[in-house]
Amino acid sequence: MKKDFISILDISSDELTNLIASARRLKEERRLGVHTPVLANKTLGMIFEKSSTRTRISFEAGMFELGGYALFLNPKDMQLGRGEAIRDTAKVMSRFVSAIMIRANRHDEVLELAANADIPVINGLSDREHPCQILADIMTIEERLFRTEGVKVAWIGDGNNVCTSLIFSTILTGMEVVVASPPEFSPSSAIVREAQEKGAKVRIVTEPREAVSDADVVMTDTWVSMGQEEEIDRRRKIFAPYQVNQALMNGAKPGALAMHCLPAHRNWEITDEVIDSKASAVWDQAENRLHVQKALLVRLLV
Ligand code: CP
Ligand code: NVA
Repeated sequence: MKKDFISILDISSDELTNLIASARRLKEERRLGVHTPVLANKTLGMIFEKSSTRTRISFEAGMFELGGYALFLNPKDMQLGRGEAIRDTAKVMSRFVSAIMIRANRHDEVLELAANADIPVINGLSDREHPCQILADIMTIEERLFRTEGVKVAWIGDGNNVCTSLIFSTILTGMEVVVASPPEFSPSSAIVREAQEKGAKVRIVTEPREAVSDADVVMTDTWVSMGQEEEIDRRRKIFAPYQVNQALMNGAKPGALAMHCLPAHRNWEITDEVIDSKASAVWDQAENRLHVQKALLVRLLV
């Protein structure tokens, strides 16, 4: 049966361990200039309903390095943009390519595509989750801290798609997350309940200083996700006390990591001082997208 990767919970804890091990091997092989074409003759169709730098480039370069091919598909140029049904698109693409990656406005679209495709579907970000990002983040945390079990992550800011995948990931990794958000922008109670019922270790607070106390990792994301541009002024005001700056980092454990999936609004949610500091793991997070997604593609396609 085909496998999809739509939620971080589409893999088990053991599968996550294997995936990260495989990503580390691929990273080392790439450093040595070794590229094995295990995905020769495989094609990834990449549908982007929203902009992307990291996701597009890492999947495209990753497919190339594995001997395969990636197609960038803008829905505006596809019949999808003129109203062709997602389910019909799924069936047709299944006849042409080996897997689909979609960055979608609505999570339902990813689910509908997967339900109607005969090939693996990967969620490259939806309004609910960003599981590929969290894979890279887990790999980065393991590289820097040599473990995930018991690692305390403070999420500061918007309880958004990346935050949701992070919360669910605690079920697989043994990490603990404390989310500090303005009440209006906390992760939804339905998501928190679902995650806790499945064994997630998550606590929701409103005070950034409370969240970072004893934290090994301080993580944030934009205050204005794609599609929320009209709310920019209001969000900037509400989130201002949630900036990850040096004063906040000083409240975390000595040596705590600062993480951000990028793109960042520098000096809004994270200051130059923090993003450019030794504590910052943001460039490794971005790089690890490549390695971990290559491991994911091999897992889904070989
Ligand atoms: N972090 C991330 O997914 O970046 P892009 O939007 O550039 O793909
Ligand atoms: N939360 C952000 C993540 C971007 C990678 C967004 O959805 O725009």
